[in-house]
Amino acid sequence: MSSNLGNKIIKRVSFNPNSLRKPAFYRLSLGEDALRLDALLDENSRIEVFDKIDAQLTELVRIKNPGKNLSPEDVEQLIKQHTQLDDLAYYGVWVFYPWSNKLVHILDEEEFIAVRTNRNQHKITRKEAEILRSKKIGVIGLSVGQAIALTLVMERCCGEIRIADFDTFDLSNYNRIRTGIHNIGVSKLTTAAREIAEIDPFIKVVCYEEGITEDNIDDFLIKDGKLDLMAEECDSLDIKILSRIKAREYHIPVIMDTNDRGMIDIERFDLNPEYPVLHGLLGDMPYQQLKGLTTEQKIPVMLRLIGLQTLSTRSKVSLLEVGQSISTWPQLASSVMVGAGVVTETARRILLNQLTVSGRYYVDSETIIKQDITEAPAYVPVKLNELSLDEMRGIIKDAQQGENGAIKDKDVLKALVSDAGAAPSSGNDQPWKWLYSKNKLFLFHEEARSYSFGDYRNMASYTSLGAAIENVALSAHKQNIDISVKLFPVENNKKLVAEILFNGIEQTKSTGATDNLADYIYTRTTNRKIVNNEPAPDDVLQQLQQATESVEGAKVFFKTDKAPLQAIGRIISVVDRIRLMHPHGHYDFFHREMRWTEAQAKATRTGMDINTLEIPQQALMALRLFSDDNIMKVVRDIDGAQAFKGFSIPAAVNSAAMGLVTMPAYTPVDFINGGRAVQRQWLKATQLGYAYQPLIAPLYLFPRIVHGGGEDLTGQMIAELTQARDSFMQLFPGDEKRGEVFLFRIFKGDDVVNRALRLSLDDILFID
Ligand SMILES: Cc1cc2nc3c(=O)[nH]c(=O)nc-3n(C[C@H](O)[C@H](O)[C@H](O)COP(=O)(O)O)c2cc1C
Repeated sequence: MSSNLGNKIIKRVSFNPNSLRKPAFYRLSLGEDALRLDALLDENSRIEVFDKIDAQLTELVRIKNPGKNLSPEDVEQLIKQHTQLDDLAYYGVWVFYPWSNKLVHILDEEEFIAVRTNRNQHKITRKEAEILRSKKIGVIGLSVGQAIALTLVMERCCGEIRIADFDTFDLSNYNRIRTGIHNIGVSKLTTAAREIAEIDPFIKVVCYEEGITEDNIDDFLIKDGKLDLMAEECDSLDIKILSRIKAREYHIPVIMDTNDRGMIDIERFDLNPEYPVLHGLLGDMPYQQLKGLTTEQKIPVMLRLIGLQTLSTRSKVSLLEVGQSISTWPQLASSVMVGAGVVTETARRILLNQLTVSGRYYVDSETIIKQDITEAPAYVPVKLNELSLDEMRGIIKDAQQGENGAIKDKDVLKALVSDAGAAPSSGNDQPWKWLYSKNKLFLFHEEARSYSFGDYRNMASYTSLGAAIENVALSAHKQNIDISVKLFPVENNKKLVAEILFNGIEQTKSTGATDNLADYIYTRTTNRKIVNNEPAPDDVLQQLQQATESVEGAKVFFKTDKAPLQAIGRIISVVDRIRLMHPHGHYDFFHREMRWTEAQAKATRTGMDINTLEIPQQALMALRLFSDDNIMKVVRDIDGAQAFKGFSIPAAVNSAAMGLVTMPAYTPVDFINGGRAVQRQWLKATQLGYAYQPLIAPLYLFPRIVHGGGEDLTGQMIAELTQARDSFMQLFPGDEKRGEVFLFRIFKGDDVVNRALRLSLDDILFID
């Protein structure tokens, strides 16, 4: 830019202080005003004059003669008669707007109001208009409040309006606040005052430029006459409450629009001074407690106020995204305009004594104007039939009889299978069914319980089944019962996982690393607490390693330094997010694994009871929102839920150690044996006083790219997984063909209070 142009621009920069917000009136019939206007025109060469008094008079005389079809000559005649003036400059009033240097010639107050509100009749009768003219309304907060204030003024629902806001306009306000872009940086208060004056300079506007505070709320409500109604639209939660407490004290009704689903709240403190503030939704929360909260801190309070269930889907999505892809709540012009309309209409009826209710109402066009759209669900669940007893009997028909010590005492058998049932399983799906027949104990894979996105090629199930087998082995060993386990005894039938033979009294007394582990079968739990830990000592890791690697082929690799722990936490989080975003993964987690109420958990006795997960309140709320398919549709669309990419980092970083258990190959047999190794390790950790949590999501998804060519994943998911896989291989280098069985963390922390339920023995053991 040339310096010349720069200078020109600087010279023209508007000096327009916020304090300029009242127009000046000049009535030339008063000599003094004529002199003042004369002087103003002399000193200010930038003034533009707008003189359409003739048009206004034309309307006036037509309004006064509603039934007549007046010709232009008639009108001219009538105007002459009415004004008794040759020079119309002396008629009415000249209004000078100093912020825009506009001098406008208008009818004086009574005639101006009569013409300006003529089209209100008889939706608003003259009598009602007169009543409304005597009313004083206060509006706190001038974002949504600006639209409300202007609508109230346009409709002339009051003679005086008190407005309060301390904020200035940002460009990002312009999606919903109707004002010119020259007002960027100008106070919202000044802008509203000016716009009111530009619509109707005769309305009294009282400005509170610091917004509402403890110091000025009384003035705002009662100085120079008590308000007849308060519209509250501010962002500060403390002021929301304080202003209501005070309005209640002074018996002033309050109305609020919340800009979502056309939600309107009415609190008739005038009719019922006992009415609880905000319908009692916040209880007796002292307003001081809510001062100066950040947007994120406000969310839980706002939710109590608005109600999570009643929010619109898009608001729920936005709620999840605040602080991630967006910095604050979204608001739309359409909602603001509807809100302003509804508030004005309701306010008018309150002021005219035509409405006496208090409560919460919705003017939600989305639910009023709707159409049933049947969209294909993102995922249609696969329903498998449970294995029947006949089917199991059919499968074992060919299993050879052989020599077998058998179990004569059924209580011993039941105890063994109960111990097996206490084993951990993926999502607590307990994919096992036991059949005792022909003196042998058969273990079946109940796929109807385990079928899921995570159970790729059934490997998660095999791990759980391996853990269950290990419990039987440990328990038998404890009772000196010698057993041998044969995996997949019937060729080409993977439903029958194992056949357990009872060989009589055990000869070898000690199995070394696994001795005594049976004692911890019922104390072992999954502990999901996050407790800051020092790295686990070497001897602990060594003992865990011994227990794990006592299964042939099993290996465990530990990490204890913060940097690799952080890296693992990130990988888990990235993969967890992919699971969330994947329709099948999402379905499984929210609708198959999770039990959202205690009753649900008790009825099924499988799955994960949300109350046992020890999830912080905020995260729980987010989870509940993410469970909604409609929300997920939008989240997928915006590639949202990015916050998930850090979700598991705290759990990882605060651990005493994390580890990976591997087996030589990615095969069902190796995963069953891997499950046995895991169970030994987990029980050993329990014995050593360490809490334990599997964090297995990466091992569920990596095989889809390593062994399955990206099966059932989108390109983006494959790309993200490939990247996560690279990081993972740097942390745990090795052969891509190995079986990666378990990823877990250990830590010292308080015990779990609520244990996960198990199916009853009748559901898992069948005796022929
Ligand atoms: C194969 C497998 C995978 C698992 N994955 C996870 C996991 O990723 N995150 C988690 O918190 N728990 C995981 N668990 C633990 C189970 O949720 C837990 O065993 C089940 O809910 C029963 O609870 P309990 O272990 O306290 O008895 C897994 C368990 C198994 C056997």
